[in-house]
Amino acid sequence: MKVEGRGVIITGATSGIGYEITKMLYNKGARILAIGRNESALEGLKKEFPNLKVLRVDLADRKARKIIIPYALEVLEDLSILINNAGVGYFGKTLGSNPEILDRVMEVNFWAPLDLSLSFANIKSGQKSIIVNIISLIAFVPLPKWNIYAVSKSAERVFFISLREELRKYGIKVINLYPPAVKTPFFENSLGEKPKPVGFMVDPQKVASKVLNAIEREKEEVFLSFRDFIIAKIGSLFSPTISKLYGFR
Ligand SMILES: NC(=O)c1ccc[n+]([C@@H]2O[C@H](COP(=O)([O-])OP(=O)(O)OC[C@H]3O[C@@H](n4cnc5c(N)ncnc54)[C@H](OP(=O)(O)O)[C@@H]3O)[C@@H](O)[C@H]2O)c1
Repeated sequence: MKVEGRGVIITGATSGIGYEITKMLYNKGARILAIGRNESALEGLKKEFPNLKVLRVDLADRKARKIIIPYALEVLEDLSILINNAGVGYFGKTLGSNPEILDRVMEVNFWAPLDLSLSFANIKSGQKSIIVNIISLIAFVPLPKWNIYAVSKSAERVFFISLREELRKYGIKVINLYPPAVKTPFFENSLGEKPKPVGFMVDPQKVASKVLNAIEREKEEVFLSFRDFIIAKIGSLFSPTISKLYGFR
């Protein structure tokens, strides 16, 4: 699908990967509704991209996020693409962790994409449209201390693989993208302990161009490299070794 003139909702547009996707799609002529919580970052987006619309929503709030799809229909002339990008990490021991924080991770990373996608699919049924999910390679390779985050991402992965088959006959495509570690404020924004720095990281611009390419070519399962594809296929076998290497055990 070409993005020119298409209405696009992007969650987590205020930072990192979401910001780069917003910039790339806007410059390609998409009409964007940007979602985030950071008011000054949303104001900054409006200044940088004059035709872009913004909406401040805490995606962990079930009631608040219900307004996103109706609002998009009101302010965008078209609604063809939903990009579930917003996410939050949790790094730390599971034993003794605060259940409210764990709930929050699941709300933002799993329940919000699920809710938004079902509302989107209900109104788009029979019209060509696309749902994109920015998941993570960790959905395939669970690591100690990242386990709650990994659970939220693997639940998202499995849910959308299954939903993809159900929505296909209604003309709605589902794209799942699995980035490795990316150079964004994600690690400092993660809840819990301060995560250890990761050696190899890719640029968020690379993720954004993969997203654009996947939309244009209507790909379904997207890895950033062949290396990532192999990690996804066999990585879980090496999970204990990786844990040892990073001193997680
Ligand atoms: N960076 C990585 O290494 C990496 C790797 C694989 C996958 N990912 C995934 O990529 C996606 C984007 O992450 P990023 O790296 O760009 O991180 P980031 O720079 O921390 O950005 C996260 C975005 O999510 C939004 N967000 C977080 N909680 C929210 C909430 N409760 N309500 C509304 N918006 C919320 C933030 O907006 P506000 O600050 O305005 O609330 C921000 O725009 C996430 O789903 C992440 O899991 C990241």
